Amino acid sequence: MTEQKLLLLISGRGSNLRAIQRACQNGDLPARISAVISNRPNAAGLAWCREAGLATRVIPHQVYPDRASFDQALAAAIDDHAPDWIILAGFMRQLTDSFVQRYVGRLINIHPSLLPAFPGLHTHQHALHAGVRWHGATVHFVIPELDAGPIIAQGIVPILADDNPETLAARVLDLEHQLYPQALRHLLRGDCVLKNDRVVWQRGYQSPDFSGCNPGGSA
Ligand code: GRF
Repeated sequence: MTEQKLLLLISGRGSNLRAIQRACQNGDLPARISAVISNRPNAAGLAWCREAGLATRVIPHQVYPDRASFDQALAAAIDDHAPDWIILAGFMRQLTDSFVQRYVGRLINIHPSLLPAFPGLHTHQHALHAGVRWHGATVHFVIPELDAGPIIAQGIVPILADDNPETLAARVLDLEHQLYPQALRHLLRGDCVLKNDRVVWQRGYQSPDFSGCNPGGSA
């Protein structure tokens, strides 16, 4: 199948970006990263991209008077690359409705919880506080409502008795690094499609099974 173009948006460390780039390079993902855009000039992920030879761009949100003008600049930068998919990988900015509408159906996010539980920030802390037994990550289409939108894939990890937010975050992150590339692979191959605001799996395919697995070996 033809190679598709991904544009990634990051704000920080970029470990999901690295997992996606690895999957592109080893042929697991029929895609290439055409550019990486960060809203933070000092995002650690940017330095890695430069070393890896990926095109990068910084659109610093502070210099824009409001969300709408930042999102306009971001959209213009995205459109320069004409990507097939826009992938949020730790992009810590809320996007305006009109930005989301512009790319709806092509805008994907990973969130570190089993949505609809624990949208927003500090998900690991919230999960520990709530006393749930299982936590995880969700890959989903982005809609104007924050951390909502049709779910493409989810993975779960156990919560252990001696967990703290950091140990739990590390376990979830290991999971994310496998879940995100796999979910994207299915999406890019057309194994699942968006239909009436839900993800529908085609031709006998189903969402990748990350139920109760121990993907990173750290649980
Ligand atoms: C991940 O936990 C992701 O789910 C969330 O932000 C974090 C980004 O981590 N949206 P990284 O920058 O990919 O390492």
